[in-house]
Amino acid sequence: MSSEKEIRKYLDRFSSDDFRFAVIKVGGAVIENDLDNLISSLVFLNEVGLRPIIVHGGGPKLSRALEDKKIQFSFKDGQRITSKEVLYEAIDVFKAENQKITSALIEKNVSAVPLMNDVFKCTIQDKDLGFVGTIIETNSDKIRDIILSGGVPVIAPMGYTDEKQIVNINGDKATQALAKEILPDKIIFLSEIGGILDGSDNLISTINIKDDYKRLMSEGWLHSGMKLKLEEIKHLLDYLPSNSSVSITKPLYLNRELFTDAGFGTLVKAGHQIDKFKELDSVNIDTITSILESAFKGTLDKNYFIKQDKEFYVSSCSRAAIAISLHQKVAYMDKFAVKTGARGEGLGNAIWNRMTIDHKKVFWRSRSNNSINHFYKNVCDGFQKTNNWNIFWIGIHDLDELTECIRIASNQPETIAYEN
Ligand code: ARG
Repeated sequence: MSSEKEIRKYLDRFSSDDFRFAVIKVGGAVIENDLDNLISSLVFLNEVGLRPIIVHGGGPKLSRALEDKKIQFSFKDGQRITSKEVLYEAIDVFKAENQKITSALIEKNVSAVPLMNDVFKCTIQDKDLGFVGTIIETNSDKIRDIILSGGVPVIAPMGYTDEKQIVNINGDKATQALAKEILPDKIIFLSEIGGILDGSDNLISTINIKDDYKRLMSEGWLHSGMKLKLEEIKHLLDYLPSNSSVSITKPLYLNRELFTDAGFGTLVKAGHQIDKFKELDSVNIDTITSILESAFKGTLDKNYFIKQDKEFYVSSCSRAAIAISLHQKVAYMDKFAVKTGARGEGLGNAIWNRMTIDHKKVFWRSRSNNSINHFYKNVCDGFQKTNNWNIFWIGIHDLDELTECIRIASNQPETIAYEN
């Protein structure tokens, strides 16, 4: 593998939130053909203290079981039409597939917990599909409890309805519903192919939705199944924090994908990468200065970076930055800047979301005529107007603390000079 430093970096990142590490979708074919590699990779994760949420499929196996028993089945829009007979068979097959994973894990001392049909609350929306569920609620409490007590939930693609009817659900849909509910750092699809392939059947290492999506979707060589997958991933990333990403890889390469920069598989990101800096080099200083001066149309105080009491979030496209000042008890957002040309791309949201992963309590101020106030009013928990400023906050519930924050905000020195 790679340098220890690299591995450590990812370990720290993935360990920072107990149950938000990852949702891993294991394709049905993987359970059949690649179970040993799957189990070793998952055992490794367990050994380093990472507990993913596992969702599995079982489609190919189910098709074979139905054929063996001469039970008729067909598909509509990629969904298996599920008659009562198909459903009974599905329940048996999914139970067996689930057990293959859980028992192999338990044998290796991983506390795997099978979840058969109690995670997804569904309705039957399309009667023509039979017992196929549309997920309306995902029971994440149960999953969280399992993970926080050191277990690894292994979830079958089945749900239940209000009438306690068990229903069949599509494994990818189940994965999406879980991801939207849990907001994990990583979503991983384990497949036999192990990624998205280009026109010459080479693995595409990284896909940046913002830059690559349109072009890829119009490529003749991109397999229709892959297009569908990419489309699903795009919708998923729209819901997730900007630093979450999706990886497609094989069981054998799972840990290389997770713990190295280069990875092994296809990494799909939304496109707004945000980096955090505590110490700045001169390049960073120039980048941040240029973002701030362009966004505020003024000149930044020459001494702005001298006192090292701040941390910075900067988008990798160098078009958005946040400065957080830490010299008082509650984090003060000293600057929030998005270059004019970059507005409306979700970049402001992306950098804001990234910052609030680290800071749950923040206060800040802005001029009452600033057009960004609309955004601030949406994200803040409260705000107060003073003569010159609007003062906003999140996460501050103690009145004394709030009063102090408002006082501090009103007294901040100005660090941008405007030409008239
Ligand atoms: N280890 C990092 C992650 O999981 C980077 C992976 C890069 N992978 C790739 N196929 N380019 O997010």
